[in-house]
Amino acid sequence: MDYGRFIEEQAANIRREVGSGTAINAVSGGVDSSVVTVLAHRALGKQLKTIFVDNALMREGEPRRVVKTFAGMGIPVEIIDARRQFLKALKGLTDPEEKRRAITNTFYKDVFAKAVRKARAKFLLHGTILTDIEETVAGIKRQHNILSQIGIDPEEAYGYKVLEPLQTLRKDGVREVAGVLGLPEGIARRIPFPGPALAARIVGEVTGKRLATVRAATAVVEEELADTGAFQYLAVLLNDLATGIRGGKREFAQIIVVRCIDSIDAREATVRELPWETLHRITRRITAIPGVNRCLYDLTPKPPATVEYV
Ligand code: XMP
Repeated sequence: MDYGRFIEEQAANIRREVGSGTAINAVSGGVDSSVVTVLAHRALGKQLKTIFVDNALMREGEPRRVVKTFAGMGIPVEIIDARRQFLKALKGLTDPEEKRRAITNTFYKDVFAKAVRKARAKFLLHGTILTDIEETVAGIKRQHNILSQIGIDPEEAYGYKVLEPLQTLRKDGVREVAGVLGLPEGIARRIPFPGPALAARIVGEVTGKRLATVRAATAVVEEELADTGAFQYLAVLLNDLATGIRGGKREFAQIIVVRCIDSIDAREATVRELPWETLHRITRRITAIPGVNRCLYDLTPKPPATVEYV
């Protein structure tokens, strides 16, 4: 595929659709939304408004890191603090699909609709890729960013049109486009991170406290496995408590699962055989997180498992 040509065609398409109006897009710091941001900025310049939605579900230090990275490319990013809205929408929910639906609704109905109105925009640009569409349509999992493909008309439901310039690409193609667009290596090669963010890695209810636990475990895993070159690595918080011993006393504490996979496009995945030494080091660090006393390594390929737990 000629990715240079792909970029020119998509930029022309965005310009034609948006005309002299304004478009808005949300960047999460992942490769898909970052590519859309640079592509749309190239197409629209000042007619594009880019936001970062702080939904309380992001990794440690992420809002500041994203703003700084894009400022370095001359693209201003405004942070929208929606932490309370998301935590309120997720309160009490334990069913995976209900959690995903709550996140989708909060993004599209509340946060984006308000941002679009404020910017007087008519278009929202999206980083949806082919794999997101296929898995949602196949009923495997409702990806947070799929709308029209499952019968939701965003214009009718939310009051704005959605443009999806990457919808014919898979992750490997998006990385190629990122390279051609000149995105920093740190973004172009960054491991995937799901739209529902850390909520996709909490089995059971998502609370501020449980988020802090999985966020701390995620930081350990990402630091320890950064040099593996694996497709994706992550930490998951289970919904059970296990018996353990701390300070000579019995305790019931939480369980973290570590996952490290190889894949080309996330449709199938195999498990990386990590050295025992690495696994022991991760275990020591993860069980030092308050309230966690067990660390498990997940040996399940996709299929039958999916990458995320929710
Ligand atoms: P699963 O868990 O479906 O994940 O095997 C496949 C790949 O997609 C990522 N993922 C998502 N990405 N919105 C996204 O943009 C989502 O709702 C979502 N759910 C999973 C996941 O991290 C993996 O790389």
